Amino acid sequence: MSTETQLDTDPCILTRHINESGRKAGGTGELSQLLNSICTAVKAISAAVRRAGIANLYGISGTENATGDQQKKLDVLANDLMVNLLRSSYSTCLMVSEENDNVVEVDLKKHGKYIVTFDPLDGSSNIDCLVSIGTIFGIFKKASDGPPTAADALQPGNNLVAAGYALYGSATVIVIATELSVDMFMLDPSIGEFILTQKDIKIKKKGKYFSINEGYTKYWDPAIKEYVDRKKFPQDGGKPYNARYIGSMVADVHRTLVYGGVFAYPAHSQSPNGKLRLLYEAGPMAYVLERAGGKATTGHQRIMDIVPENIHQRVPVFLGSPDDVDEYLEIVKKHKNYVANEK
Ligand code: AHM
Ligand code: MG
Repeated sequence: MSTETQLDTDPCILTRHINESGRKAGGTGELSQLLNSICTAVKAISAAVRRAGIANLYGISGTENATGDQQKKLDVLANDLMVNLLRSSYSTCLMVSEENDNVVEVDLKKHGKYIVTFDPLDGSSNIDCLVSIGTIFGIFKKASDGPPTAADALQPGNNLVAAGYALYGSATVIVIATELSVDMFMLDPSIGEFILTQKDIKIKKKGKYFSINEGYTKYWDPAIKEYVDRKKFPQDGGKPYNARYIGSMVADVHRTLVYGGVFAYPAHSQSPNGKLRLLYEAGPMAYVLERAGGKATTGHQRIMDIVPENIHQRVPVFLGSPDDVDEYLEIVKKHKNYVANEK
């Protein structure tokens, strides 16, 4: 039996990757500093998630967040970690978090040029039953002069400099998308570092999975009903798609990126703008998916083109493999004409 230890003695850890990419792009190092701080916050959140039961971090904290959902203790902790670590990174001037009603301003003496939007712990309804949850983030540059205000955060996804997410699943993974590429890093708990495991990820042209909360079928419009119906009863007599829905956007989007297919949280009659928030859920995920060769739409507009009107704005989401998203867009077109003819 061999006694050799399989240890990579020159691993590409996230910090190295960030620094190398920064050098290549000829940057000042401020974005690298910011990404490193997000990475540190994610490690701390991951550690808290892993010991949540033992450390008694589960359960309702007794406060409500900006959109009226009850906050869990882990949400509060994750938010504090993101806010504090970003504030002290000297690379940001303004933050938008799902957990704060208003923008979070950074002390002038710690100002940097970036604006960060984030959902510190998405999928909170899954915390108590140990199902995967995640952190989503988007990074913009401050575009105006003068002190930062909420208006500076109202930028379309097209302006994103970088975006990504961390998934606290059977392992902790972080996916970071920049102008250059979409890359995946796995947390090695034995050394506490993220190791590059997949470089320049590209999504499949077409997948075999659809992911949507079918409990809302009663409220759907004809286009989304027809799309899901086609996945279950393919017109060409072929095999149906597989249904997968975790109820944590990060986990559902990550599977979509890795295996292909679509994830959707569409508008429905009870929720005309869907549920997911543009600045820190839909926008960053649309950026990641598009950089990986996928598509992200509301059904009527590219998500990245939407200029937010307020920081907690919701948008319908349909994203994934390009051919699958195009099929949905064709169906939307068909139903638009149908409604127009009816009038
Ligand atoms: P949260 O930010 O309160 O956790 O809500 C967002 C989550 C997403 O992760 C997920 O895609 C969606 O809510 C699930 O909602 P639903 O239970 O209506 O299917
Ligand atoms: Mg959320």
